[in-house]
Amino acid sequence: MGELIDGRKVSRDVLGRVADRVNALKSKGISPGLGIVKVGHDPASEVYVRTKVKKAKKVGINARLYELDENASQGQVMDLVLRLNRDPATHGFIVQLPLPGHLDTDAILNAVAPQKDVDGFHPCNLGLLAIGKPRFVPATAVGIMTLIDSTGVRLQGKHAVVVGRSNIVGKPVAMLLLQRHATVTVCHSRTRDLQRHVRDADVLVVSVGRPHLIPGDWVRQGAVVIDVGINRLPDGSLTGDVDFDGAIERAGFITPVPGGVGPMTVAHLMDNTARAAALASGIGLDG
Ligand code: GUN
Repeated sequence: MGELIDGRKVSRDVLGRVADRVNALKSKGISPGLGIVKVGHDPASEVYVRTKVKKAKKVGINARLYELDENASQGQVMDLVLRLNRDPATHGFIVQLPLPGHLDTDAILNAVAPQKDVDGFHPCNLGLLAIGKPRFVPATAVGIMTLIDSTGVRLQGKHAVVVGRSNIVGKPVAMLLLQRHATVTVCHSRTRDLQRHVRDADVLVVSVGRPHLIPGDWVRQGAVVIDVGINRLPDGSLTGDVDFDGAIERAGFITPVPGGVGPMTVAHLMDNTARAAALASGIGLDG
């Protein structure tokens, strides 16, 4: 029977460290500011944005929400992004995704100043990560690494299998695992014989968005299983991409859904924001 990885508890530890860093910055006269841009009313985004504002306040970060209408034009969103790029009180900001379909998401993300890109979605920050010199790394990917580290399992030489290749989770987490000397396999919707890869994983990260894509009996005995999926079932309950009840029988460690990866994303966004404020003030990332 595997051990639960408690994302709520680990995220509290991360937020505690962020609060300390924010206090240290404030004692030097710097008050970290986070901007959150929301366009329209995607129901999941409403929940995430509310949580981000709440947690920011809790650690002493000034969070400001910028809400644009569902029908906002590309120009209106771009103007706001350029304004936040110039605003000295905004040390970092994010554009909550997904954006309404008529907007060009890539163009908007590319317009965010890389040194304020606390989501780590700008090609410049993803490129720095790819060459092993990370600056801002997407929060979910860092959160996954923090959860793996919380188990005490060492990654060097282990086989890590990532299922899903998105720019905001799958690719960055694969790069972080590689940086920690794991041997990394990235699987996706066109992968032949997914089971063959999954059953060989010492560390399994699944970020696809399909309920119970991974049956419990595919999981290797003793594996670390990180389930990034948050899927709403017809009865309203939330479930992951991994069949939890089956997988916990075989896993060494496993994250629940909810209460696993979710809280980590918010915690590391706050960490990135405190780091952006430190960077902007020339204090250095450890200041
Ligand atoms: N939508 C889903 N996850 C994220 C995230 O981490 N950041 C932003 N901006 N939008 C998201």
